[in-house]
Amino acid sequence: MRTYRIAAIPADGIGPEVIAAGLQALEALERRDGGFRLDVTTFDWGSDYYRKTGAMMPEDGTEQLKAFDAIFFGAVGAPDVPDHITLWGLRLPICQGFDQYANVRPTRILPGIRSPLADVGPGDLDWVIVRENSEGEYSGIGGRAHKGLPEEVGTEVSIFTRVGVTRIMRYAFKLAQSRPRKLLTVVTKSNAQRFGMVMWDEIAAEVAKDYPDVTWDKMLVDAMTVRMVKNPRSLDTIVATNLHADILSDLAGALAGSLGVAPTANIDPERRYPSMFEPIHGSAFDITGKGIANPVATFWTAAQMLEHLGEPAAAARLMRAVEKVCADGVMTPDVGGTATTRHVADAVCEAIRMEN
Ligand code: NAI
Ligand code: MG
Repeated sequence: MRTYRIAAIPADGIGPEVIAAGLQALEALERRDGGFRLDVTTFDWGSDYYRKTGAMMPEDGTEQLKAFDAIFFGAVGAPDVPDHITLWGLRLPICQGFDQYANVRPTRILPGIRSPLADVGPGDLDWVIVRENSEGEYSGIGGRAHKGLPEEVGTEVSIFTRVGVTRIMRYAFKLAQSRPRKLLTVVTKSNAQRFGMVMWDEIAAEVAKDYPDVTWDKMLVDAMTVRMVKNPRSLDTIVATNLHADILSDLAGALAGSLGVAPTANIDPERRYPSMFEPIHGSAFDITGKGIANPVATFWTAAQMLEHLGEPAAAARLMRAVEKVCADGVMTPDVGGTATTRHVADAVCEAIRMEN
């Protein structure tokens, strides 16, 4: 029996609601498949832990996580704790400590879900956004001086390294090569930002030589938002910096119907450390505890996790079940349905059980 050790970190807001649904679907897959087992350990880290201990996770938190094959993460963020504390206290130390430099965000319009774009349906929008996840605008370099005084300054320094840009570019070209259309769009802002962004463009051109069968083009990030809305069929694989891809992938999620269906994988492609799988959305204070959080993003990221663990058949089965349930109209209110999180999770488990 193939066994994988999974660290579940549900954390805050709707995180525990969607992670519970995700674990339920994973159990249904284990039973259905019979060939693998997930050994899940759940950690109580997050804002409650912070209120009790003054830290989002124990000091040796990442050390504890090293023993796992993958991390299944909910969301962080609480109304009474500053967002930079929750983010830098838990999610970013894991991404950065484990050098999960490739953040992979697939977007598709699932059957039964309506895009806010007129005349755009399933098949018209099928993208994967690759986000540089270790440096760039979120490198954490900067500072504040003269705090509280009129002459106060704050700096936020973007760091682009040749190693960092080359490795994400290789990852993106390889991913584009593995997809049917072999199409990559490289996003920058190299007209206004003359140093790091120009280096990004130069490295893209260098790496492209190793992938002659991939067709690639360049976009400035502002124009990219227009292309995503006006001409979604022209895009396939997209690579962008930490900040740019953060923003573009929220737009992508919205164009695919809801943030509640958008998944993300924080990957260490060299597999030195566990990779982390999570829905893109945050802790959604406005719907926490109502039982209506959309679990689809979490199912989808669970499928990414299975894929990464080397269980592609189970991953594909999970996605077929999700698509069937969406097509049947069993959906939460954010995508126009009336179902609860539990209804959707039960329906997905049933679809997993019933599939031939
Ligand atoms: P958010 O993603 O939590 O919510 C934005 C909107 O989308 C809300 O109206 C929410 O109800 C809706 N939404 C999100 N996920 C949904 C789901 N699964 N089903 C149905 N509706 C859903 O973003 P917001 O409001 O900007 O941030 C709330 C908190 O979450 C903040 O503390 C923020 O820092 C944190 N956050 C954490 C992230 C993470 O852990 N990776 C990512 C984004 C935000
Ligand atoms: Mg974001």
